Amino acid sequence: MVVTWKPLLWFVKGTKLRTTEYIRDSVQSSYPDKTLHNWTQSTVEAVHVISRLTIENDIVLDPMMGTATTGIVSLNLKRQFIGIEKDSET
Ligand SMILES: C[S@@+](CC[C@H](N)C(=O)[O-])C[C@H]1O[C@@H](n2cnc3c(N)ncnc32)[C@H](O)[C@@H]1O
Repeated sequence: MVVTWKPLLWFVKGTKLRTTEYIRDSVQSSYPDKTLHNWTQSTVEAVHVISRLTIENDIVLDPMMGTATTGIVSLNLKRQFIGIEKDSET
Protein backbone atom coordinates (compact mmCIF):
# COMPACT_ATOMS: atom_id res chain seq x y z
CA MET A 1 0.00 0.00 0.00
CA VAL A 2 1.31 3.45 -0.89
CA VAL A 3 0.18 6.12 1.55
CA THR A 4 -0.85 9.23 -0.38
CA TRP A 5 -1.62 11.60 2.46
CA LYS A 6 0.02 12.92 5.61
CA PRO A 7 -1.53 14.49 8.69
CA LEU A 8 -0.57 18.10 9.42
CA LEU A 9 -0.79 19.38 12.99
CA TRP A 10 -0.98 23.17 13.15
CA PHE A 11 -0.36 24.68 16.60
CA VAL A 12 -0.81 28.42 17.03
CA LYS A 13 0.57 30.46 19.90
CA GLY A 14 -1.95 33.08 20.97
CA THR A 15 -5.10 33.87 19.01
CA LYS A 16 -3.73 35.71 16.00
CA LEU A 17 -3.03 33.80 12.82
CA ARG A 18 -0.15 35.20 10.84
CA THR A 19 -0.83 33.39 7.63
CA THR A 20 -0.25 35.38 4.52
CA GLU A 21 -2.30 33.28 2.12
CA TYR A 22 -4.93 30.58 2.04
CA ILE A 23 -3.59 27.10 2.54
CA ARG A 24 -5.11 24.17 0.70
CA ASP A 25 -5.84 20.87 2.42
CA SER A 26 -4.35 18.95 -0.49
CA VAL A 27 -1.07 19.54 -2.30
CA GLN A 28 0.04 17.80 -5.47
CA SER A 29 3.48 16.48 -4.58
CA SER A 30 6.31 15.08 -6.65
CA TYR A 31 8.39 11.99 -6.08
CA PRO A 32 11.34 12.98 -3.85
CA ASP A 33 14.97 12.48 -4.76
CA LYS A 34 16.00 9.48 -2.63
CA THR A 35 19.73 9.74 -3.43
CA LEU A 36 20.72 10.85 0.07
CA HIS A 37 18.27 8.83 2.12
CA ASN A 38 15.27 6.53 1.72
CA TRP A 39 13.13 8.80 3.88
CA THR A 40 13.85 12.05 2.09
CA GLN A 41 10.63 13.94 1.47
CA SER A 42 9.61 16.09 -1.47
CA THR A 43 10.17 19.84 -1.12
CA VAL A 44 6.82 20.60 -2.80
CA GLU A 45 4.60 20.26 0.26
CA ALA A 46 7.25 21.80 2.53
CA VAL A 47 7.33 24.92 0.32
CA HIS A 48 3.52 25.07 0.28
CA VAL A 49 3.12 24.78 4.05
CA ILE A 50 6.14 26.78 5.27
CA SER A 51 5.59 29.68 2.88
CA ARG A 52 1.96 30.00 3.97
CA LEU A 53 2.12 29.29 7.69
CA THR A 54 5.19 31.38 8.49
CA ILE A 55 6.62 34.75 7.61
CA GLU A 56 10.25 35.73 7.00
CA ASN A 57 12.54 35.22 9.97
CA ASP A 58 10.08 32.91 11.80
CA ILE A 59 11.62 29.79 13.32
CA VAL A 60 10.72 26.40 11.85
CA LEU A 61 11.41 23.35 14.02
CA ASP A 62 11.56 19.85 12.58
CA PRO A 63 12.11 17.41 15.47
CA MET A 64 12.56 14.48 13.07
CA MET A 65 14.72 16.19 10.50
CA GLY A 66 15.95 13.30 8.38
CA THR A 67 17.94 14.79 5.50
CA ALA A 68 16.55 18.26 6.30
CA THR A 69 14.09 18.86 3.49
CA THR A 70 12.26 21.28 5.78
CA GLY A 71 15.55 22.94 6.73
CA ILE A 72 16.60 23.55 3.15
CA VAL A 73 13.18 24.92 2.28
CA SER A 74 13.08 27.08 5.42
CA LEU A 75 16.45 28.69 4.69
CA ASN A 76 15.54 29.20 1.03
CA LEU A 77 12.39 30.99 2.19
CA LYS A 78 14.43 33.14 4.65
CA ARG A 79 13.08 31.41 7.77
CA GLN A 80 15.28 30.35 10.66
CA PHE A 81 15.53 26.62 11.25
CA ILE A 82 16.12 24.22 14.12
CA GLY A 83 16.46 20.55 13.24
CA ILE A 84 16.69 17.52 15.52
CA GLU A 85 17.73 14.11 14.25
CA LYS A 86 18.56 11.05 16.36
CA ASP A 87 20.55 9.25 13.67
CA SER A 88 23.90 11.05 13.31
CA GLU A 89 24.63 9.17 10.09
CA THR A 90 21.51 10.70 8.49
C1 LIG B 1 10.52 10.51 7.51
S1 LIG B 1 12.09 10.98 8.16
C2 LIG B 1 12.00 12.71 8.28
C3 LIG B 1 11.83 13.46 7.06
C4 LIG B 1 12.06 14.93 7.22
N1 LIG B 1 11.22 15.54 8.26
C5 LIG B 1 11.88 15.64 5.89
O1 LIG B 1 10.98 16.46 5.77
O2 LIG B 1 12.65 15.32 4.97
C6 LIG B 1 11.98 10.59 9.89
C7 LIG B 1 13.26 10.89 10.63
O3 LIG B 1 12.98 10.97 12.02
C8 LIG B 1 14.07 10.48 12.73
N2 LIG B 1 13.61 10.19 14.09
C9 LIG B 1 12.78 9.20 14.50
N3 LIG B 1 12.56 9.26 15.82
C10 LIG B 1 13.27 10.33 16.28
C11 LIG B 1 13.43 10.91 17.55
N4 LIG B 1 12.85 10.38 18.64
N5 LIG B 1 14.22 12.01 17.66
C12 LIG B 1 14.82 12.54 16.57
N6 LIG B 1 14.71 12.03 15.32
C13 LIG B 1 13.94 10.93 15.17
C14 LIG B 1 14.51 9.29 11.90
O4 LIG B 1 15.85 8.93 12.18
C15 LIG B 1 14.30 9.80 10.48
O5 LIG B 1 15.49 10.36 9.95
